[in-house]
Amino acid sequence: MQRTNYCGLITEKYINQTVTLAGWVQKKRNLGNLIFVDLRDREGIVQLVFSQDRGQQAFIDAAKLHSEDVISIQGQVVARSEATINEQMATGHVEVEVQQLEILNTAKTVPFNIEDQVEATEDTKLKYRYLDLRRPEMQRAIRIRAKITSAAHQYLDNNGFIDIETPDLAKSTPEGARDYLVPSRVYPGSFYALPQSPQLFKQLLMGAGFDKYYQIARCFRDEDLRGDRQPEFTQIDLETSFLSAQQIQDYTEGLIAQVMHDAMGIDVKLPFPRITWNEAMDRFGSDKPDTRFGMELQDLSEIFQDSDFKVFKNAVANGGQVKAIVVKNAANQYSRKNIDAQQDYIKRFGAQGLSWFKVKQGQFNGPVAKFVQDKMQVLQQRLALADNDLVLLVAASKKVCADSLGYLRKYFAKELHLYDENQYNFLWVVDWPLFEYDEGIHRWIAAHHPFTMPNEEDLDLLETNPHQAHAQSYDIVLNGYELGGGSIRIHKRSIQEKMFKALGFTKERAEKQFGFLLEALDYGFPPHGGLAIGLDRFAMLLAHRQNIRDVIAFPKNSKATEPMMQAPSTVSQQQLDDLDIEIQK
Ligand code: AMO
Repeated sequence: MQRTNYCGLITEKYINQTVTLAGWVQKKRNLGNLIFVDLRDREGIVQLVFSQDRGQQAFIDAAKLHSEDVISIQGQVVARSEATINEQMATGHVEVEVQQLEILNTAKTVPFNIEDQVEATEDTKLKYRYLDLRRPEMQRAIRIRAKITSAAHQYLDNNGFIDIETPDLAKSTPEGARDYLVPSRVYPGSFYALPQSPQLFKQLLMGAGFDKYYQIARCFRDEDLRGDRQPEFTQIDLETSFLSAQQIQDYTEGLIAQVMHDAMGIDVKLPFPRITWNEAMDRFGSDKPDTRFGMELQDLSEIFQDSDFKVFKNAVANGGQVKAIVVKNAANQYSRKNIDAQQDYIKRFGAQGLSWFKVKQGQFNGPVAKFVQDKMQVLQQRLALADNDLVLLVAASKKVCADSLGYLRKYFAKELHLYDENQYNFLWVVDWPLFEYDEGIHRWIAAHHPFTMPNEEDLDLLETNPHQAHAQSYDIVLNGYELGGGSIRIHKRSIQEKMFKALGFTKERAEKQFGFLLEALDYGFPPHGGLAIGLDRFAMLLAHRQNIRDVIAFPKNSKATEPMMQAPSTVSQQQLDDLDIEIQK
């Protein structure tokens, strides 16, 4: 029997037609003289009805069916009786009266039901990923991803970008994470590195004169995993020559607009708002602010610089700040215990404590109320306080204030449902610092990567005071996530050399690691710049998922392993011998 239609697309327009369908048995109800089967394929579910008088053999065979058996049927589409119409289903006005049934394969009892609300551990779902992916919400998420990719190809093809592949067996390029290494059999002791991104290749393609490059590129980074990070992930990666940052951002906006239109049916408003990194940190305590809600950080340093409350006064005197957020009309929802739990949490950002008070009938209540009493009037005015407001204050360095209150802002907004899940707020964050201090390794690193061009007016700072320089870089942010990032690149050898020096590279090390790039810059390299969007994150946000695992067909779990095939795994002694590798126990 040759399939004529998808199950999920059988609507009233097919009434009286004979159709041949194929798919999986979702469930079966045997009423004695009638057997109902829900048949599922990638487009959805349709109800089949088996009865003795329409197909004797089919009726006998249908009685044997189990969930997830694979069948093919032929039958006639009929309208359901008024009483049995199911408005929740796309096919709920019809059913198919089956004349013929072919059982194509049987299924053992599945480890979890193939439906959206499934109770199974993450590892069980990943072990049986092919079953997990049968679930409608997973099918939807993976298909949103495909729509994004397709829209990106279309937009970039139509705008003169050339799709060029770059190697996976490459040399280490520092993107900030650890490399995945691949040992060379031919050169024992030598390793390829899987690319953390195609960054240097795409720059070299600009040197080669392609002018506009793009690639849906796989990247590999051995870093600590989070909900929005996987060891291998995909970028919509692009690079252009001779264009300004603004022009590159315009292309990016066009690309995002096409994706939103094609994948979601949403027309976004262009251009996207743009704020500087400084402003983002000041107002939202984050370099990737979620602007779907307010609760902005308020700087109260000036008010408290002459306070009797030593904690506040000293913070300001030591060059720090006193900042606050106001959780509007929710004070009665939070006990001291709730708030103390948040205080413990923000200690990880370096905060000594969390000060707070509630507004109740025009009075301040709570542990710091008595210390801020003298500023009551000015605070009330400045923070526009009303009854039942909860005010949270942190006194610390600028960074600790931003990290702590930035976190709390997001925490309370999520808890109190202060934003619309279906709103998409895109935002450019521009004018980044060129360097950032890495507390883990105790040194300055490139905030984006070492090939980012400093601001024109900061070029001299590279030699004198590099850590104050700002960069010609930009991030595109969506609802509190860093969706993508890019920059204008360094295209002159002299500047690239200064950059390496500022990063602590000796001349020899720069030459050894990046000699090919420095040399290429000597041969008439054009000014260039680009950007990469994290495809997985984009798909996660559009599919309303909490984890990028859900938009990757075969992802790793949070421990970077893959429970189905069980990767990584040991290999044979012969394979190790071929690579001249000895495992130390
Ligand atoms: P960057 O490192 O900022 O820039 O990466 C660009 C985007 O890729 C996504 N991303 C990730 N997604 C999932 N898992 C990860 N581990 C992961 N790491 C990054 C994010 C991020 O915004 N070569 C530069 C781009 C450029 O300058 O053109 C780069 O890779 O969405």
